[in-house]
Amino acid sequence: MKDSKFSELLHNSIPGGSHTYSKGDDQFPDNAPRGIKKGKGAWIWDIEGNKYLDCSMGLGSVTLGHAFKPIVNKVVKEMESGINFQRPSYIELEAAEKFLSLFDEDYMIKFSKNGSNSTTAAIKLARAYTGKNKIAFPEDHPFFSFDDWFISSKECSKGIPKVYDSLSIKFKSCDINSFKELILKEKDQLACIIMEPQKFSCGNCNCSLSPFEYVKKVIKICNENNIVFILDEMVSGFKIELPGAVKKYDLKPDLITYGKGIANGFSCSSLVGKREIMNLGSILTIGAEKVFLTSTTHGGETHSLRALISTIDFYTENNVIEKINEKGNRIINSSRTLIAKYNLQKLITVSNTTWTPIWFFNNYKSHHSLKLKTVFLKEMISNKILFQGAIVPSFSHGDSEIEYFLNGFEKSLHTFSEMVKRDHFEIDENEVIKPVFRKYV
Ligand SMILES: Cc1ncc(COP(=O)(O)O)c(C=O)c1O
Repeated sequence: MKDSKFSELLHNSIPGGSHTYSKGDDQFPDNAPRGIKKGKGAWIWDIEGNKYLDCSMGLGSVTLGHAFKPIVNKVVKEMESGINFQRPSYIELEAAEKFLSLFDEDYMIKFSKNGSNSTTAAIKLARAYTGKNKIAFPEDHPFFSFDDWFISSKECSKGIPKVYDSLSIKFKSCDINSFKELILKEKDQLACIIMEPQKFSCGNCNCSLSPFEYVKKVIKICNENNIVFILDEMVSGFKIELPGAVKKYDLKPDLITYGKGIANGFSCSSLVGKREIMNLGSILTIGAEKVFLTSTTHGGETHSLRALISTIDFYTENNVIEKINEKGNRIINSSRTLIAKYNLQKLITVSNTTWTPIWFFNNYKSHHSLKLKTVFLKEMISNKILFQGAIVPSFSHGDSEIEYFLNGFEKSLHTFSEMVKRDHFEIDENEVIKPVFRKYV
């Protein structure tokens, strides 16, 4: 089937044309493949058979590689013994113990299918534990859940009752003083803070604290004020460290959420946390008021839990964290050298996050430019790299894949710099990618 026909049919059957907004047509320039047929390792093929180097690796979830045999073989074997039963499967305990063994603290765990299930459960638990209703998160951390408590804070909040507006509060992530002011004002009503460990916005600010000093200070202030601190490791988990920033920076959150990456793309998310709080979801304390924590038909699905266990084993046996961070480091350093070679440092910068390097595209006034980003993405895609402005270096991105990436990156820089010299970017305004969270389509 031709690409364009596929796209038309997708939109005919599926509102938005995909099941995740960040996969949508409005997130890519026109030359992007409309549909993917298959993937292997770090490569994908579109429905017309064109081969691309993958960068986002299934929205950051496929950290070992597509169709990765060591995981797939174990998953298939598990499926042959049945995937869902009326009582807990033996593997629910095995997976829980395996995941919890990654932490130094005495935590408990609950699995679900999507990250949003876990962050939303964490919010509910925090409210039940503290008896308070308000919640807060940094305004520049991009996403925590598709549920109302979070989407109500975005431009596209149609369909969500206004009552959420006063319950979900935003603060500036870089500014510890603005956080202290928030606490002073709201501490008696604030049930929790939820945030990611990394402040992506820090590329452009002049705050003096490192991201992790900042998070440690926030945790301390939360502890002193009966506010539950939730660390969302959906993006950093299984990338920055195993299991995540919590280990690397010795953070002690009350609750932690994981999703992407923990099962090499299989649907599995988790809420991990202090026994005292998690136990509110228990059914053992007869007479205690029940908290209806996550309860999903598919949460205990055996093959996804087998994928999780096998992924953890593969990580520990193959030093995956060190390897993916080395690759990221190499990509960052080489790409900075290339950006400097073409004298584009003012317009293109790259983050220090070796586990997921992110490129920022600014105009000469130092404002983020979606137009420049679209132009660059378009060049990368024409060089057969499916690039959305970041790369999740997976275990399958070997030397040749990294070389391929850097070659395509340089070619794209070359064309981009020619356009800069001519002060003319060949792009139709309709093609410029749009923010996912916007009021109007
Ligand atoms: C930081 C963060 N938290 C939560 C989520 C929600 O995860 P899911 O899309 O699996 O519901 C995402 C998804 O992108 C995320 O990036």
